[in-house]
Amino acid sequence: MVTAAPRLRDDIDEILPGVIADRRHLHEHPELGFQEVETARFVAERLRSLGVDDIRTGIAKTGVTGLIRGTAPQAGPAKTVLLRADMDALPIEEENQVEYRSTAGGVMHACGHDGHTAMLLGVARLLLERRDRFAGAVKLLFQPAEELPPGGAQAMIAEGVLDDPKVDAAFGMHLAQEQPVGAIALRGGPAMAAADRFVVVVHGKGGHGARPQSTVDPIAVGAQIVTALQTLVSRETDPLAAAVVTVGAFRAGDAFNVIPDTAELRGTVRTFDPAVRDALEERIEAVVRGVAGAMRADVAFTYTRGYPPTVNHPAETALVREVATELFGPERVIDSPLKMGAEDFSYFLEAVPGCFFFVGSRNPDKGLIWGHHHPRFDIDEEALGTGIEAMVATTLRYLNGAE
Ligand code: NI
Repeated sequence: MVTAAPRLRDDIDEILPGVIADRRHLHEHPELGFQEVETARFVAERLRSLGVDDIRTGIAKTGVTGLIRGTAPQAGPAKTVLLRADMDALPIEEENQVEYRSTAGGVMHACGHDGHTAMLLGVARLLLERRDRFAGAVKLLFQPAEELPPGGAQAMIAEGVLDDPKVDAAFGMHLAQEQPVGAIALRGGPAMAAADRFVVVVHGKGGHGARPQSTVDPIAVGAQIVTALQTLVSRETDPLAAAVVTVGAFRAGDAFNVIPDTAELRGTVRTFDPAVRDALEERIEAVVRGVAGAMRADVAFTYTRGYPPTVNHPAETALVREVATELFGPERVIDSPLKMGAEDFSYFLEAVPGCFFFVGSRNPDKGLIWGHHHPRFDIDEEALGTGIEAMVATTLRYLNGAE
């Protein structure tokens, strides 16, 4: 299998200009979550022209799936592997002056999902050319709205994408500006955080700033709440269990001499361990209600769970690591640090075993240093070839095929 790798690399070199053209086309025409109408049309059209089977569209509004059936003989039951790309862009005005700059005002592929979609189309092409070398099936999945919780993954799963044929394992990849182009970064177990949010509305009693004794000052109450919340991570969470509680918005009042009626706080909570997540949810509410009650204010409290932590499974992670090390050498396979960002590929990994890995895309020599969600975000497109190579080889290895 290792000896066959150079031919895979040759094929990637051959298709890479087309993959880059696809990525640039998608970059020029970004669409927000659940509005990926033209993107989905482009994807479905491309799958059709490649000869992918069982193309289904309109899943969770704009999701697309397709199937590649291997034709190699297989003793025993054949497996199905799901490969996922997300398709949505972000509400950001692009600042790059490149020929493939976004043509949609205020919308930009600033996270690399254009690259993910283009890579999976490239993977589809190479797997189709190799369908006589594997048994089982590859389900290609193009997902809407990764950036827009509750997201497209959960909705696609609810619409049955893990059945018919039943999916045995799932793999996904994300371009990563934190890693150098050419590298693959991954880690087993928890890899990305759960992201929850909360809103606190403190109901006090407004009045004149010079007569505080006849008011219940919601700003003073809110300030105590912010301070008390900081002790939940520093004093109640195991220092070895990473967690973040951030109050990112605090809105109250308009005038220098008026105590307002209400104050509103909004925050985010990031965790990796389900027990820590449960504990923080419970304790945040208790602290908010307790502090407010002690200070004579009422509160309205809502806590909304977002994406669960992205937890990679050991065997599938070991497989990606083994394949990437053989293809690229150990120096290009990096242990990914825990990421406090969240990702709805987590829902696939809750349902079936699999691995979500990162494909380095930073290149300071080309000035490609800006991070995800930045208006100047852009990738080194050589990364697209690395991602395709890793994904094709991993899929073939999983389905007992040869590269
Ligand atoms: Ni992303």
